[in-house]
Amino acid sequence: MPPTAAAESSRAEELRRLLNRAAHAYYVLDAPEMEDPVYDRLYRELLDLEAAHPELVSPDSPTRRVGGAPADGFRTVEHRIPLLSLDNAFSSEELEAWFARLLKVMDRTPEAGEPLPPLPMVGELKIDGNALALSYEQGVLVRAATRGDGERGEEITANVRTIQAVPLRLQLERPPAWVEVRGEAFIPDGTFAAINAEREARGESLFANPRNACAGTLRQLDPGVVASRRLDFFAYTLHLPDDWSPVRADPARPRSQWESLAWLAAAGFRVNPNADLCPDLAAVEAFFTDWETRRAQLPYATDGVVVKLDDLRLQADAGFTQKAPRWAIALKYAAEEAPSKLLRLVAQVGRTGVVTPVAEFEPVPLAGTTVSRATLHNADRLAELDLRAGDTIVVRKAGEIIPEVVRVLSELRTPGATPLQLPPNCPECSSALVREEGEAATRCVNSSCPAILRGALRHWVSKGGLDVDGLGSKLIEQLVDRGLVGSIAGLYRLDAALLASLERMGETSAQKLVAALEASKQQPWHRQLYGLGIHHVGAVNAKALAKAFPSAVALHEAAAEQPEAITAVFGIGGEIAESLRQWFATPANLALLAELQALGISMAAPEGEQGVGGESDGPGGAGHLSGQTFVLTGTLPSLSRSQAQTLIEAAGGKVSGSVSKKTSYVVAGAEAGSKLTKAETLGVAVLDEAGLRALLASGP
Ligand code: IVH
Repeated sequence: MPPTAAAESSRAEELRRLLNRAAHAYYVLDAPEMEDPVYDRLYRELLDLEAAHPELVSPDSPTRRVGGAPADGFRTVEHRIPLLSLDNAFSSEELEAWFARLLKVMDRTPEAGEPLPPLPMVGELKIDGNALALSYEQGVLVRAATRGDGERGEEITANVRTIQAVPLRLQLERPPAWVEVRGEAFIPDGTFAAINAEREARGESLFANPRNACAGTLRQLDPGVVASRRLDFFAYTLHLPDDWSPVRADPARPRSQWESLAWLAAAGFRVNPNADLCPDLAAVEAFFTDWETRRAQLPYATDGVVVKLDDLRLQADAGFTQKAPRWAIALKYAAEEAPSKLLRLVAQVGRTGVVTPVAEFEPVPLAGTTVSRATLHNADRLAELDLRAGDTIVVRKAGEIIPEVVRVLSELRTPGATPLQLPPNCPECSSALVREEGEAATRCVNSSCPAILRGALRHWVSKGGLDVDGLGSKLIEQLVDRGLVGSIAGLYRLDAALLASLERMGETSAQKLVAALEASKQQPWHRQLYGLGIHHVGAVNAKALAKAFPSAVALHEAAAEQPEAITAVFGIGGEIAESLRQWFATPANLALLAELQALGISMAAPEGEQGVGGESDGPGGAGHLSGQTFVLTGTLPSLSRSQAQTLIEAAGGKVSGSVSKKTSYVVAGAEAGSKLTKAETLGVAVLDEAGLRALLASGP
């Protein structure tokens, strides 16, 4: 073996210190400071280091013991049978390696070329809670204890008695002199949410996750509090004295893990119903894969599956290593958090010019994919994390969510490492970045910045926008980098011959793309509006605005002169009106609109659907108010705005968002604003609710 490098020895020391501190915080202080997957990974790294360099193993290594020491406040009790831990596997290769080792110790390794012998195993869900050891004497619960260090735990009988799923007396005719049951106490997700909501309401600190809440609860000194937290329990391990045998209806003495689960259920325990008896390793893998997706629907947390050799005699043959049984393994689901080493910090410029700090790091497998980039959100978050060059970071990925950096493991930092910040200039166009007072975002405000242009093009052709097929990010990058396209409008001037000359483009795909662009000109006005990518104008707002303002011209007019006509649209507020005002006040944007229209993109609803800006859909016409236009403002005493609108439309009138000389009546309620003033200056008739009702009633 090569001599141990100084770097490895100091890394081992660092890992020991970190892991011991995390275990102390978790087990003794009830104040966890390291997420499990992170702990697992660092633990793994230490195990590997110690395996490669046994001289690095020291008596204080966390790999030399099973758990933390019991805390003060509870009596320490010795377990009749030690509570062991489980070894972990993180992939099917590791599961297969475990199985091969198991066959070897049992002397069942097949000859080369022969298939693996089938060996029944039980697949159980690995409940993400806290292990409990329950002792029954003559069928009565006499003691409940936490795992502690595996040999001795804390006596928490009074607390465990509050758990309804734990029987206080076994349902057996002839209970054994003693029974030892192990299982997992946990807090269901729904209960956890309620507990945290209550704590929040009382201004107390929140529990990080259900398992921590459960651990904290089990070690409460007041059993009344424990009872209020509604813990639950699944039993999974049974130890019986050798001389016990059943009478009459008592369940038979189990010979396998599968029978043990049935025995536990018969004796009155809650046993997880999702266990399965698997005839071979392939069935175990199928069980794991099946629950990988289904576990999301469970009302409690599971972090993997536990695989156990079914036959109890074979279990005894396989035996134990120093800390775990050889006959069982925990197969863990891909971590959603993992540590990695920061390689660099980059500033990513988005479509709206917002600059996001993004961490690039050594690739890590995370929740099923390999990740190497994660967002740091904004400059404030970056400062809060105090990220430094070369830092070890913790990255999280949950479901579809973009990976993010959650923490920096500052304990692993090299002293004197340089703090990292966003650059003062745009990495794409070098113009100075701007951060407005009170805003979280740092922006590049150069509208011809290539990064902004790429983003704008991607948005214009996106599914919610003009939905142009065959124009992906790579192609957009080429078009912008080569200066072939300088704005959205530029896309419509591309010809097939030029496109065909680009990388990874052929004649056919070029022609298809030109045709798709041509066809996109017919997309409806609300998609065109969305495609412009105006700040705050997402798909829903674009639809509402396009309905109220049937053309860019109408919208422009309102944005510039009558913001109240814009905010009169259902769901549209002042922030959006202001964003539209700014957009239309920018000459480059007006030039873009003109260019798009010249290219055959209408920027308006088809003729037949057009009306005056802000008008309601109602055709007017039929009733006695036909031809009259109403503007509603302020709060009416009994009618809501939409009720008033319905009544007016039913009588044939129209409702508009803005007051003009053509307005017949302004209906004003409490706190009417500028529309009322405008009506008064223009000499438009003003009604209150009573006046409106009288007018409505005046019809035939
Ligand atoms: S069997 C010697 N079965 O996982 C056998 N453990 O990481 C040890 N756990 O300490 C336990 N669900 O707290 C077993 N169905 C299950 C389990 C389970 C959760 C916990 C248990 C154990 C830990 C090991």
